[in-house]
Amino acid sequence: MKKILITGGAGYIGSHTAVELINAGFDPIVLDDLSNSDEKVLDRLEEISGRKLTFYKGDCNDRILLDQISFEHELAGVIHFAAFKAVGESTQFPLKYYKNNLGSLLVLLEFMKDQGIKDLVFSSSCTVYGQPDQLPVTESTPRKEAESPYGNTKKVCEDILVDYVKSKPGIRVISLRYFNPVGAHPSSKIGELPLGVPNNLVPYITQTAAGIRKKLTVFGDDYDTPDGTCIRDFIHVMDLADAHVKAFSFLNHQEMDYYDVFNVGTGKGNTVLEVIQAFEKVNDLKLNYEIGPRREGDIEKIWADTKKINEELGWYSKYSLEDSMRDSWNWQKTLGN
Ligand code: NAD
Ligand code: UFG
Repeated sequence: MKKILITGGAGYIGSHTAVELINAGFDPIVLDDLSNSDEKVLDRLEEISGRKLTFYKGDCNDRILLDQISFEHELAGVIHFAAFKAVGESTQFPLKYYKNNLGSLLVLLEFMKDQGIKDLVFSSSCTVYGQPDQLPVTESTPRKEAESPYGNTKKVCEDILVDYVKSKPGIRVISLRYFNPVGAHPSSKIGELPLGVPNNLVPYITQTAAGIRKKLTVFGDDYDTPDGTCIRDFIHVMDLADAHVKAFSFLNHQEMDYYDVFNVGTGKGNTVLEVIQAFEKVNDLKLNYEIGPRREGDIEKIWADTKKINEELGWYSKYSLEDSMRDSWNWQKTLGN
């Protein structure tokens, strides 16, 4: 069984990817400092997969620890999820974000080079597109100036990878540009664990439905969209997890010094009100919400062109928006209120 190091593997997307890697016959080795996750996730992964995962609690900037892991396991590659991701916090503490998000990539690349590890999948984001001039966005749509230090870390990491691969170090890399990840594992054993008041739409919806928040505010209904609310491409986290398995398997068949980027979305945009309606319908609930002013810095509309990932990686999204809303709510119910 090929062993893959998953940095940030106890987090939201990493944990779901660990499950899908096991299902595909890989052996994920999880490295996480638990700065934004809970060790209980490892027990949940064991319940879902029926086997114990190898877990290292530590920082992926710690080169000594990385070398120890590589000494103990023959690694076929790395999927690098570990990063700080709170947009607002990144404007307050930019150095914290640059240090962790850029620093960890640099340490990992040097580690991979020294240990002869060839394959890397990197977590990027559709945030690199800003508000695109044309929709849907393809991978060759020009990137815009980043809206936040967090967004800039994703852009700079992509640039680092381009420059590094150009220098012919003998590696193969894919950056996946995620659109808006939502949903949870259908077993409801793992899902997103937002700290404090959620910034993102779907955790805010589920917490409102659970009575943790009084009311959801829809940020603006005067955008140039069919119902006036913003449009996003909401991708189920299980589909996203599967994209990592496909990307990793694909890398293995490429020549050395390969680099490419792929959008990971459904290819369909939904408005904020459509998300609320889907949530209400599939869960037979009424959500307490009101229309409020626009949120500063919000992109009006964005969704993915998925032709490249469909054709080259053979990946297609399978889960609908309704599936996402059902699984998000089932997960929230396990968290209580
Ligand atoms: P998450 O916070 O749930 O998971 C990240 C994990 O990394 C956490 O478990 C955290 O404890 C860990 N971590 C952070 N820094 C670390 C370090 N230095 N060493 C070891 N572990 C560390 O986030 P997520 O939603 O699963 O996101 C995963 C990746 O995808 C991130 O790179 C994020 O920027 C990117 N991304 C997320 C979204 C989204 O909306 N969730 C969208 C686009 C891109
Ligand atoms: N929204 C509300 N009310 C809320 C929360 C969100 O109306 O309480 C709206 C927003 O205004 C936006 C839409 O729901 O129109 C989606 O907002 P999110 O915060 O869930 O997602 P964003 O697309 O704004 O940003 C997210 C992450 C970024 C990441 C980006 C692309 O927060 O870090 O997706 O992956 F870069």
